[in-house]
Formats: sequence, structure tokens, C-alpha cells
Amino acid sequence: MIVLKSQREIEAMKKAGEILALCHKEIAKLIKPGITTWEIDQFVDDFLSKHQATPEQKGYKGYEYATCASINDEICHGFPRKDPLKTGDIVTVDMVVNYNGALADSAWTYPVGKVSKETEHLLKVTKEALYKGIEQCVPGNRIGDIGHAIQTFVESEGLSVVRDFIGHGIGSVIHEKPDVPHYGLPGKGARIKEGMVFTIEPMVNIGKYQTKMDNNGWTARTIDGKYSAQYEHTIAITKDGPMIITDQD
Ligand code: MF3
Ligand code: CO
Repeated sequence: MIVLKSQREIEAMKKAGEILALCHKEIAKLIKPGITTWEIDQFVDDFLSKHQATPEQKGYKGYEYATCASINDEICHGFPRKDPLKTGDIVTVDMVVNYNGALADSAWTYPVGKVSKETEHLLKVTKEALYKGIEQCVPGNRIGDIGHAIQTFVESEGLSVVRDFIGHGIGSVIHEKPDVPHYGLPGKGARIKEGMVFTIEPMVNIGKYQTKMDNNGWTARTIDGKYSAQYEHTIAITKDGPMIITDQD
């Protein structure tokens, strides 16, 4: 069942989204060679508590950290750890913020120092793919239009879209209906309606789209060891189109 949100609920989620966006902007300043994802996770924990917010991922299905921090060939759900980031790495920091019971979810990939041309291209295409998906979020379109726009663009740039992890409805819990794949066919899937709130979070790989799971049961990585990037926003559907709950601008 897809739960439609009232304007009040959407406004509450927007407040959570504003805190999350501010937090990402602070993380952007912290990322440099030598910092660890452990330190970033602690920063996020402190930042949220200073803003009377909580990290919803902590304790979710036994997950232990405020953030997911996925480095290089890790696609998603990497554990924060004490190894320093190095020049040329990329790191995706993903978090769900709870503010007064309302949630917002956003992931961002950060380059560490100077990265290769190939990596720059990966980041640029992945971010652009997110916004191509968001453009499709107008009432009357279908969920398949989002995935189709993303997949067509990513593949035209010679990169691949991960299939095993998808966007999701979000409200008072992290994962609700609808499912939002980042691939698919136009005109297919549920119709997009005013009051829906869901994430769009394309994970894009330089090499093959397939994933493999680490022994920790959480962290997914590329099967060929090539880099993977991800940008995620939480989107509310208004009668005029998409409102980006986690907008950083
Ligand atoms: N933020 C993640 C998403 O985009 C949810 C991760 S749940 C966790 O779907 F427990 F792994 F953190
Ligand atoms: Co997320």
C-alpha cells in the first residue's frame, strides 16, 4: 500500500531534510585524505544530536552506525571504519535523519583529494542521473518513467545501473511502498500522485552492474572491483511536481 502524506507530514519531513542537507554540507568540508569514515560517523552523530535529531539507521535491523560509508568498489551499506581515506578514493555517505518522528534520507558521494578523470565522470553522470529521475516526478507520470530516464542516460554514458538496490517510499519508517527501481520501462509501474514521498538513489558502476555481498551480510560491492557512486534525495510529490526534501541548495 502506498501511503499518501498530508502537507503537514511533508513539512515535517522537510525539516528533517534540512538538517540532513546541512549535515552533508559540513561533511563535504571534512572530507580529505587522512580522515576516517569512523570520524565522519561520529561527526554525524554529534551534529544530529545538536540539532535535536537522531540517526534513524542506528539500530535499524541491527545496523550499528549513524551512517553507511561505502568506499570505492563498495556500492552501499559500508560500515564506518578507522582506515584513513586516501587521495583518489570516493566515499558515499548515506544517512536517514529522524526529526520529531519525521524522516528524510539522502546519500552523497564525495571525492577524496584529486580523483581520476574516469572517477570524475562517474560522479558527474551519477548525480545528473538522479536529477533526470527527479524531473520525471510529476503527477500522472509512472514510477517506470523515473527508472527509464536514469537507465537510458547512464548507459548512454557507458556506465551501468545497479539493479539489486532501489529507491523506496519513506514516511514514519525508512522503507515503504512504492519500490523505485533505477532502471525500467516508460509508462510502467504505479502512477505518481500528489502526496507520495519516496527516495531516488541511483547506484552507478564504472564496470558491470552486478553486486556481491560481503561476509558482514550488509556491504554490497561491485563484482569487478571497479568504483561505484550514489546520489540520493528524498522527494515529495506536489501538484506542481517534485519537491526535494533533502535539497542542499
Ligand atoms: N539509507 C539507506 C537507503 O537509502 C537505508 C539504509 S538502512 C541501513 O535505503 F540500516 F542500512 F542503514
Ligand atoms: Co539512503
